[in-house]
Amino acid sequence: MAIKRRQLLLFGGLVLGGGLGGAAVSGFFKRQPEAIAPTNAPTKTSPESAIANSPESAKPTIKRSASPAPRGLYAPPRGDLRIVVISDLNSAYGSTDYIDQVKQTIKFLPDWEPDLVLCGGDMVAGQSTDLSDVEIKAMWQGFDKHIASPIRKAKLPFGFTIGNHDGSASTYNGKFTFASDRNAAKSYWNDPSHDPNLNFVDRADFPFHYSFQQDQVFYLVWDASSANISSEQLQWVEKSLASEVSQKAKLRIAIGHLPLYAVAKGRESSGNYLNEADRLRELLEKYNVHTYISGHHHAYYPAHKGKLELLHSGVLGDGPRRLLSGDLAPNRTVTVIDIKLVSSETIYTTYDMDTLKVVDLATLPRYIDAPNGRITRRDIKI
Ligand SMILES: [Fe+2]
Repeated sequence: MAIKRRQLLLFGGLVLGGGLGGAAVSGFFKRQPEAIAPTNAPTKTSPESAIANSPESAKPTIKRSASPAPRGLYAPPRGDLRIVVISDLNSAYGSTDYIDQVKQTIKFLPDWEPDLVLCGGDMVAGQSTDLSDVEIKAMWQGFDKHIASPIRKAKLPFGFTIGNHDGSASTYNGKFTFASDRNAAKSYWNDPSHDPNLNFVDRADFPFHYSFQQDQVFYLVWDASSANISSEQLQWVEKSLASEVSQKAKLRIAIGHLPLYAVAKGRESSGNYLNEADRLRELLEKYNVHTYISGHHHAYYPAHKGKLELLHSGVLGDGPRRLLSGDLAPNRTVTVIDIKLVSSETIYTTYDMDTLKVVDLATLPRYIDAPNGRITRRDIKI
C-alpha cells in the first residue's frame, strides 16, 4: 500500500511539476477543486490578546498572491500572514534521505508563498547509540541537501524545534544521554551557511530554546525533545513571554516537539508528552500565547484546551499513527495556517500528502481523552 501511494504521489508530482497538457491532466486538475475543497468552514478562535489590537493590518513587504497554492491543490485565501507547518520528516535510524512525500512537500513550499515555514522537529533520525559521529553528521548533511538548502534557496524563513531524534534532552546521571546528537545539531545550526533567516530575539541557547519575532508575531521555541522542561528553562520562558517585545506582538506562538497532551496510539505513555502539561499550559495562557505547535505523535489533531490552541502537527516522514479516538486511517499531513492579525484568527488548511486532498476537520474526533486530560477539536465550543 505504501508503495502504491508513493507511486501515485510520484505520478501526481510529475503531472503537477511537469505541466503536461492533455485530457488526463485537465481531468486531474478539474477534479481537484471539487474533490479536495474543504467542507469544514474556517474556524475562528480568538484568545484575547495581551494588548489591544490596532485596526491596521499587516503590511506585507513582499507582493503576495491572493490565494497561493501548488498547482492543482486547493488554494485557500491567504491571511495577513501565512505559515506552513511541517513535522517529523525522518525515516529509519541513520537515514540521510527522505521519502517522496517529504520531498514533494519541500518542492511545494514556495508555491504556498508562506511568510514562514515551521517544523515540529525530528528532522533527522538520531537517538541511537549505534550511530557514530560521522553517521550523525551525514544525516544533517542529508537534511541540508533535501530540506534546508531548498528552503534557503526559496528565501523562506525556517523556524523549528529540536525533536528527540535530532538531539534528545534526556539525561542520565546528570549528563545528556545523546550528547553526540545534541552537539551535531548545535554545530549544524550554528554554521553561518545554515542561517535559518529568522529575526532572533534571543538565541543564546539556539537551536534548543530560542525566540524570534516576525511580522508582529512572537515565536517562542522551547526544548521539548524530552518530557521534562527544566525549571531554569521555564524561568527563561516566563521572562521571554513577559517581555515587551513578546507582549507588544499581536500574537504569540509557542513551539516544541512533544505535545502537552497525547493524541496518538502508541504515544500515550508518559515520556511521549510533556510532564505537568496543565501547569505548562497555564504558563502559556498567563501570557496569552495563542497556539502551541507540537510534533512527535505522527497524527494531525487541531485542538484547544482552556484558553490555548493546540496544533498537533501530522507526520510527513515514516510512521503515521492513528488517533486515540475515531477510526480515521493514519495519514501524512502538512498544515497551512493563515493568520488574520486584527482578529487573531487562525485558519488551518491541512493537506493529506498521500492524496493531496484537504483533510476535513469534521472527520476528526470531537475530542480526545488523553491520559492527562481531555482536549477538544478546535471548532467545538465547550
Ligand atoms: Fe519525536
